[in-house]
Amino acid sequence: MTPQDLMKQEVGKAAAARVQSNSIVGLGTGSTTAFAIEYIGKRLAAGEITNVKGIPTSFQARVLAKQYGIPLTTLDEVDRIDIAIDGADEVDPHKNLIKGGGAAHTQEKVIDALAAQFIVVVDNTKLVDRLGSTFLLPVEVIPMAVTPVMKAIEKLGGKPQLRMGIKKAGPVVTDQGNLVIDVKFDSIDNPAELEKTLNNIPGVLENGLFVGVTDLVLVGEVQGDQVIIKEM
Ligand code: 5RP
Repeated sequence: MTPQDLMKQEVGKAAAARVQSNSIVGLGTGSTTAFAIEYIGKRLAAGEITNVKGIPTSFQARVLAKQYGIPLTTLDEVDRIDIAIDGADEVDPHKNLIKGGGAAHTQEKVIDALAAQFIVVVDNTKLVDRLGSTFLLPVEVIPMAVTPVMKAIEKLGGKPQLRMGIKKAGPVVTDQGNLVIDVKFDSIDNPAELEKTLNNIPGVLENGLFVGVTDLVLVGEVQGDQVIIKEM
């Protein structure tokens, strides 16, 4: 395992340890959350916690939850989400995020924002002083609107590019059947305003800025030959 994978594993485990019996858990997407899902499943299998139900944020999360034996439910069947655990591509000092590296940010935002407690799990490479400094901002768009949305984003000063598939010819298609435009902004000065402005462009479904949603960030960090978990 690489040091980064080790950080992801330990931080995922630390978040899974916070899940309590009789709770509804939002299950995020990505390689870090995958470890959290694995350990929630292991705690259930060991009888350490009981009566936990998951709500997946993506096809990936659904598959992992099934693999690790976590019973699933939907937003139609519950009136609360107690805790959501999800990864991020960037975290700023105000706990605002860029998400969507896995093109799952639309469902993630619905579920993470509904949770009574939203815990973000990252390794320390994800911490930035300013959002947009290391990662492009993902914007999910309905397919027929890609060209006008790209033009509108250019007018806002962004440099848009359609996300292309790996091991798949053509663009990435989201779990909702839409496309993703990744945008480079020179500087995101006001994430809250940009989040709203982008979502106001006709044809945009959701963008990857998560502002004012996070309750707690668990950060994995290698110190010597150990991984320590810091809280933010
Ligand atoms: C998916 C996401 C992921 O949570 C984000 O990309 C982080 O993934 P990873 O833990 O694999 O680095 O937002 O849409």
